[in-house]
Amino acid sequence: MTTGNSLRVEGLAFAYGDREILRGIELNVAEGEFVALLGPSGSGKSTLLRLLAGLERPGRGRITAAGKPVAGPGPDRAVVFQHYALFPWMTVADNVAEAVAKAHPGLGRAERRQRAWEHLDRVGLGDAAPRHPFELSGGMQQRAAIARALALESPFLLMDEPFGALDPINRAKLQDLLIEVWQRGRPRRTVVFVTHDVDEALLLADRVVVMGASPGRIIAEHVVPFARPRKRAALFGETAFHELRERIAEALDADTLAGLEVV
Ligand SMILES: Nc1ncnc2c1ncn2[C@@H]1O[C@H](COP(=O)(O)OP(=O)(O)OP(=O)(O)O)[C@@H](O)[C@H]1O
Ligand SMILES: [Mg+2]
Repeated sequence: MTTGNSLRVEGLAFAYGDREILRGIELNVAEGEFVALLGPSGSGKSTLLRLLAGLERPGRGRITAAGKPVAGPGPDRAVVFQHYALFPWMTVADNVAEAVAKAHPGLGRAERRQRAWEHLDRVGLGDAAPRHPFELSGGMQQRAAIARALALESPFLLMDEPFGALDPINRAKLQDLLIEVWQRGRPRRTVVFVTHDVDEALLLADRVVVMGASPGRIIAEHVVPFARPRKRAALFGETAFHELRERIAEALDADTLAGLEVV
């Protein structure tokens, strides 16, 4: 069976010590599919992403990427963390170029630097490339982390609230850039994108997976039926958009209320 660059999560359970965090997670993401993970704070979205990235090991169950068990982090799975992680001792350009070097050892120094500058330029950081992360604002550091992940040109892209620290204008620009880069991919990258924002999920994703808390589990899934390219103004005006948004918000609210009643 050919799986392409698909992600498969089967019967996944995870605990920190004796604290159950994730239970019974079943998730398949097809090659080239863009899946948004939505859920309340603490529902285990970041934990699930860390498991996909190979930074944590499942307590139970199996995770495969392109048909192979995930045994640790790898250059096939670029990650943007919720809290941007740049090396403070390197310039922004070197942060990106180093990551490219790790993922593509065959590329020459000039090519790596070229690719780093290109991607930094695309996120609006061309001028900031020679500076160090501490000289940049939080939003700029986040954009640098996004440029680094895109520059890897890896088949899988795992993003944890990547636009959370951005102002609305940069957020919209980066959403458009991400979709453009993703649509241009041959084959398209397989994306798992964590967000708190239902509108963002419906703007970007092919499918929305909703998680509930205590323990973290999948409580709903919705295919996002809207044609691409999606234009914000038109999309946000559609009745079907509002209906789907409402259904997702209801699932999230019901889970949050159930959680409060347990406390
Ligand atoms: N290193 C850790 N040790 C122990 N518990 C942890 C650790 N990291 C996370 N947790 C717990 O795991 C649960 C899930 O956390 P996680 O960060 O995955 O949630 P999240 O859905 O990403 O939340 P948010 O939306 O706030 O980012 C939380 O209850 C959290 O306290
Ligand atoms: Mg998180």
